[in-house]
Amino acid sequence: MAKAKQAATKSGSVVLGIDIGGTGIKGAPVDLGKGVLTAERHRIPTPQPATPKAVASTVAEIVKHFNWKGPVGCTFPAVVKDGVVHSAANVDKSWIGTNGRDLIEKATGCPTELVNDADAAGIAEVVFGAGKGVPGTVLLLTLGTGIGSALFLDGKLVPNTELGHVFFKGLDAEKYCAESIREGQELSWKKWGKRVDRYLRHIEFIIAPDMLIIGGGVSKKSDKYFRYFNTKCQVVPAKMLNEAGIIGGALVARKG
Ligand code: BGC
Repeated sequence: MAKAKQAATKSGSVVLGIDIGGTGIKGAPVDLGKGVLTAERHRIPTPQPATPKAVASTVAEIVKHFNWKGPVGCTFPAVVKDGVVHSAANVDKSWIGTNGRDLIEKATGCPTELVNDADAAGIAEVVFGAGKGVPGTVLLLTLGTGIGSALFLDGKLVPNTELGHVFFKGLDAEKYCAESIREGQELSWKKWGKRVDRYLRHIEFIIAPDMLIIGGGVSKKSDKYFRYFNTKCQVVPAKMLNEAGIIGGALVARKG
């Protein structure tokens, strides 16, 4: 991964951020200085099967929609090192070993960076959101289809942590308490909140964060389940909500 710009850049510098997810691929130009979208975001359903080729051409459609010619920062829900995808928990297995960055660069003609989705969301939170200016160890956990993690020490990212895959209660943790499990098993907020609490306390024991940020779509509903948390450290909802991926992706884009 190119060095993440973990400090706000001056306003006016605009980059296209694209968030590749299991159900939708969303993009928008981002003002890197303000951390805001400069145009309405464009969303296209993720092609099924979500093969590298199909996803790259959907990303190219988004680039075309904005008539974009500059740098592109893309998120991806897997371990990504130097553009290469190394895992595929919730995506098509054919991604493993693919240089997604080069593929997207070819499909779009734009200089591209590819970054893990939770890392991107974490960067957006640390630069503009709930983790802004927070010293020490900050951990963002995104609760969605899976569980993603982004670990920071004094604002600097430790890339590609996968704390959603620690083994917990005999399961891959994301199979125990991701948001998709709440929905799929129709768990009450209380039951699910208590599961998340057990997981958070386990993670707290391992990492000892100073602050935990909960991201993912369900972060907007924190009033329904944060009351079941008994961690020692402060737990806060993410502030950037649905736009964290797009903004964080844009923040790591290459200049070309
Ligand atoms: C993947 C992570 C990703 C998370 C959220 C997990 O299953 O392993 O890389 O960040 O889902 O999408």
